[in-house]
Amino acid sequence: MEEPATRIDWIGNSCRLLKATAAELKRTRPFAGLSIGTGIHLEPKTAALLMTLRAGGARLICTGNLNSTQPATVEFLRAHGVTVFATQTTDPVAHAKSLEAVVAEKPDLLLDNGGDLFAIAADKPYANLLGGTEETTSGRTRLLPMREKLAMPILVINDSPIKQFAENRHAVGQSLFESYMRFTNRSTNGKRVTVFGYGACGKGTATAFRNAFSTVSVVDIDPVTRLEAHLDGFVTPLREQAIRSADVIATVTGFPNIVTAADLTLIKDGAILMNGGHFPHEIDVAAFRSHPDIVDIDRYEADDIETFHLKDGRSFHVLGGGHMANLAGPRPLGNSVESMDLGFTLQARCLERVAKRGVGAESCLVPVPADIDAMVASAYLDLAR
Ligand SMILES: NC(=O)c1ccc[n+]([C@@H]2O[C@H](COP(=O)([O-])OP(=O)(O)OC[C@H]3O[C@@H](n4cnc5c(N)ncnc54)[C@H](O)[C@@H]3O)[C@@H](O)[C@H]2O)c1
Repeated sequence: MEEPATRIDWIGNSCRLLKATAAELKRTRPFAGLSIGTGIHLEPKTAALLMTLRAGGARLICTGNLNSTQPATVEFLRAHGVTVFATQTTDPVAHAKSLEAVVAEKPDLLLDNGGDLFAIAADKPYANLLGGTEETTSGRTRLLPMREKLAMPILVINDSPIKQFAENRHAVGQSLFESYMRFTNRSTNGKRVTVFGYGACGKGTATAFRNAFSTVSVVDIDPVTRLEAHLDGFVTPLREQAIRSADVIATVTGFPNIVTAADLTLIKDGAILMNGGHFPHEIDVAAFRSHPDIVDIDRYEADDIETFHLKDGRSFHVLGGGHMANLAGPRPLGNSVESMDLGFTLQARCLERVAKRGVGAESCLVPVPADIDAMVASAYLDLAR
């Protein structure tokens, strides 16, 4: 009997752009004779990217990021001849050893996520390193002070407009909305939803809930952004009113202490609080847990929901302990395959550009070249026809 298809198969087959790119790279072999060291989440979507690079002839030496390594993905990669230095760990020391092990192999190119690998390479330079890619803005910020030492092409994926609108705006909004449904199994119709932060992620979140028949309010500290939200048709009440009226509060600002214990008097009975920002510091859940006005906490452990009971009889719920809700709780799926397919195709094309020496040291920590954005956009649209 045939083996049942796995989630890795489903994701791999859903990444249509990467599949088409892999077919091309298999012919053109831009990475023949080169090795690529990677430090990015080891989960099914990245497996699709790594298999694309391998199709292009690369020898791969991989590790993951803290806490996100999926054993089934590691097994899959090893079965396909990829060298993996990674275990599922929350221990930064153990993780640092895996990162060191990748760089110790002296890969010709690096695919970094958060600047971990390039930071090591800046300290311990080696001659054959051509450059590579950095996935995040925080990685770029971290590496900028090392620019002189690095002096090699490093293309920053998050600075591509495609990444901004395909992932941050559209995918995060859909994914947070899906997470609300997945965690709670509650409806959104007629609910009052308050979104904190109207950047790329907040715009998508506000829109996803509005499209699901909620009345959405937006709170943003920037009046220009608030005006934009107003002109986009969202309600922009004062912060206090926005909390008082909310059945659902979603934070997506990137900043700490957006909803704190000082807001306990405002939170509506039955409200649901969730965070989509990168760090679990936007909703001060730790302060709720120890606050004297909280008389009891129900913990729905399997569902990753906490219900806080206040002494005046109100109660409210927090999803995923205030961690990014779309990567928490039961069966977290993260952002849509299509958004990652686009972002990872940018990755593959940028690495191809560096491998072919199509960019020089002047391109250290710069956005994706515009012609790569155009090529990837056209390829996606062609497949969507
Ligand atoms: N969950 C995911 O999958 C995912 C994916 C991508 C990014 N993110 C994270 O989402 C967060 C937001 O990203 P973004 O790209 O939208 O950022 P952004 O900088 O475009 O927008 C943030 C907005 O929050 C506003 N803001 C700041 N402080 C505020 C406050 N105290 N109250 C109200 N509004 C405030 C800012 O004025 C800005 O408009 C970041 O932490 C980012 O890392 C999450």
